[in-house]
Amino acid sequence: MSDTHTGQDVVDVLSSDHRDMTALIAEIWTVRDPMIRRDLTDTMISELVRHAVAEEMYVYPAMEKHLPDGKEAVEHDVEEHKELEEAAKKLEDLDVSGAEFDEALRRLETVLADHIQDEESEQFPELRRRIPAEELVELAGKVETAKKLAPTRPHPGAPNSELFHKLVGPGVGLVDRLRDKLTGRATR
Ligand SMILES: [Fe+2]
Ligand SMILES: [Fe+2]
Repeated sequence: MSDTHTGQDVVDVLSSDHRDMTALIAEIWTVRDPMIRRDLTDTMISELVRHAVAEEMYVYPAMEKHLPDGKEAVEHDVEEHKELEEAAKKLEDLDVSGAEFDEALRRLETVLADHIQDEESEQFPELRRRIPAEELVELAGKVETAKKLAPTRPHPGAPNSELFHKLVGPGVGLVDRLRDKLTGRATR
């Protein structure tokens, strides 16, 4: 499933992540069964963390380099990633049936929607305008690899790039566990 073959560029990959995360959140709202809610929430969190790590490693540096005001945009985006991970950390710890959980989910949903809007309406079109198509396809491959190796748990206190390097060994185990979990869910 190499992106050089599918021709997907990095904007396609990231936008599809955005749709997946948004759909998962919508599903969490509709589900009341605590075990399924927990499962969907953990899946959404790991998607979110891996997406944020991959963006920070490969996409935000490209934004800084190629976009006018890229540096400011990246600072703002990284701050929002931190907010998202803080909300995710709460969701990880809270009882899925409590009011506080709903509050944290609402918060995450709101910040995420805003963040997606910024990226998809402003920054991603700029990337496509300013970076050659081949490079954007190459970036898609890097993002996919980073997502496979990235940590799957939120760490709002630490820079994602550092964490990635620290966790890249154990991260593989986490991803394997996640895969088992997803497979289990698919067959239930
Ligand atoms: Fe994103
Ligand atoms: Fe982002």
